[in-house]
Amino acid sequence: MKIAIIYDSNTGNTKELALAIKDALKGYEVVYCDKPGDVIPKADIYFIGSWTDKGDTSNKIKAVLKDLHDQKIAYFATAGFNGDGYYKRLFLRAKINIPDDNEILGHFYCQGKMPMAVRERYEALIKANPDDQKLMVSISNFDEALSHPNHDDIDNVKKWALEMVE
Ligand SMILES: Cc1cc2nc3c(=O)[nH]c(=O)nc-3n(C[C@H](O)[C@H](O)[C@H](O)COP(=O)(O)O)c2cc1C
Repeated sequence: MKIAIIYDSNTGNTKELALAIKDALKGYEVVYCDKPGDVIPKADIYFIGSWTDKGDTSNKIKAVLKDLHDQKIAYFATAGFNGDGYYKRLFLRAKINIPDDNEILGHFYCQGKMPMAVRERYEALIKANPDDQKLMVSISNFDEALSHPNHDDIDNVKKWALEMVE
């Protein structure tokens, strides 16, 4: 069985998941594991990974998804925020880009650390609005994200990848 893993990753979190998937699937023929290229190789299953950009799939991955037809797709992503409900909403948005003639095998999400500049922005806003509870939640979420993807995330994405091909 041929596997292609195509991912977009600015700061490395989604790439970490992609490499973990490649490692989990070393018993299979992984024909591609890289960012989107000009030619997407033929594969039996396409693992497509994105970081979350303003509540949505990255533009590069949207373009990849829109071009896939009659394929089996397993979608994975990292996001700064967490929560099952949040991930469900994100995946509904991601799905809009997948043409109906494909088969979606499943999806996987976990948190991914964000650049320190994001925390600095929250801190500046809190100085101006010290009672803003939403900002406090954002800061604690930022701190929670710092350790992700962690060992559990990597184990979980490996298990998920194997489920997708079995
Ligand atoms: C410009 C920008 C916008 C982002 N927007 C969101 C967002 O709307 N929701 C979210 O959960 N995370 C958001 N994030 C966080 C990233 O999706 C998260 O840190 C992800 O793990 C980055 O993956 P990467 O390391 O593969 O690039 C944003 C990050 C950046 C830099």
